[in-house]
Amino acid sequence: MMQETLPQLNPTPGAGHSDANAAAEPLVRIEGLTIGFPDETGERFVPVVEDAGFVVHRNEILGLVGESGSGKTQTSMAILGLTRRPGKVMAGHVIVDGVDVVGLDEAGLRRVRGRKAAMIFQSPRTSLNPLMTVGDQVARVYVRQRGMNRRAARAEALAMLRRVGIAGAERVAGSYPHQLSGGMAQRVMIGMMVACGPDLLIADEPTTGLDVTIQAQIFELIQQVQAEARMSVLLITHDLGVVAETCHRVAVMQGGRVVEIAPVEELFARPRHPYTVRLLGAMLRPDRPSGDTQEPDPLPERLDIEVGGRRYEAVSVDAWAAAGVGLPMTIEVAPGHFVLCHEREDGADAAETER
Ligand SMILES: Nc1ncnc2c1ncn2[C@@H]1O[C@H](COP(=O)(O)OP(=O)(O)OP(=O)(O)O)[C@@H](O)[C@H]1O
Ligand SMILES: [Mg+2]
Repeated sequence: MMQETLPQLNPTPGAGHSDANAAAEPLVRIEGLTIGFPDETGERFVPVVEDAGFVVHRNEILGLVGESGSGKTQTSMAILGLTRRPGKVMAGHVIVDGVDVVGLDEAGLRRVRGRKAAMIFQSPRTSLNPLMTVGDQVARVYVRQRGMNRRAARAEALAMLRRVGIAGAERVAGSYPHQLSGGMAQRVMIGMMVACGPDLLIADEPTTGLDVTIQAQIFELIQQVQAEARMSVLLITHDLGVVAETCHRVAVMQGGRVVEIAPVEELFARPRHPYTVRLLGAMLRPDRPSGDTQEPDPLPERLDIEVGGRRYEAVSVDAWAAAGVGLPMTIEVAPGHFVLCHEREDGADAAETER
């Protein structure tokens, strides 16, 4: 059975900004990405991301969600060529603005990092240089990435600190990272990355550890800088409420696989993969009162899908081994809505069997 890759005709989200670029090739195209780590013997690589594929369009915010350990961070690091030993990209392509990052040398990667794609992490303070003032760090980006002189760079750095909502930018520019609150540090980090002028900003759980109100402000800031710079954002988060409010489309990962991709409203209204159903169910079922021992209804591990008269089933990845399923394939169940499925043995042609 042939493995299908994602069709090219994903509709472009972010309706309203239909410029010439919108119909063009997506900014990022990930195909068949497989990343592995050696097992205990060191002889075999065990995949932690397997045959993953999705695109990031220009000028969109794509959410990436999924259980812990499902491969979200590994996938996003691969976009920047940051897969670290002993991990290894075993197969696939990560095409960023026409350049395949897989197998690119350090000089090539330097041209991608910053200008094409930049990343912010969950602990901004550990990503900032503790020995340099905030203003100098942001200014250095303008010197290195934009070739400005120090004076112009300092002025730009101040303007950027204001743009990312830092009050008293002059004073903050003279402070060191340890003097900043977590929220301020993340604002500085976002400013530093936006200063690089990237086409893609990757934000990997950028608000973990921050107060809820500060979290909301950081997501608003990400939306604001995305719209201003018309860049793309890959937003990794566990918070489906944030996805609903912030993202145009969403990709769901389970066990190293991308199991479902759809525009946000479509995914929330009509999830088709059992893992997505479980994920959304957890959001809709808030914690029960303590002492309530009643188990919630078990959620299905497999769901039937019928497209164009052919029958498939979407099976929870953790049940694949037991279910003895064959090769998975990606099926478009509605425009722009893709689900990882298996062909059903019993019903190659639903129309026939029903007759
Ligand atoms: N250095 C390593 N050695 C072995 N396995 C690793 C290593 N780093 C990551 N992994 C494995 O890769 C898998 C994917 O990890 P990844 O960090 O991408 O998950 P994630 O989806 O980002 O999870 P989280 O939501 O917890 O951040 C995990 O099962 C993890 O155990
Ligand atoms: Mg992670």
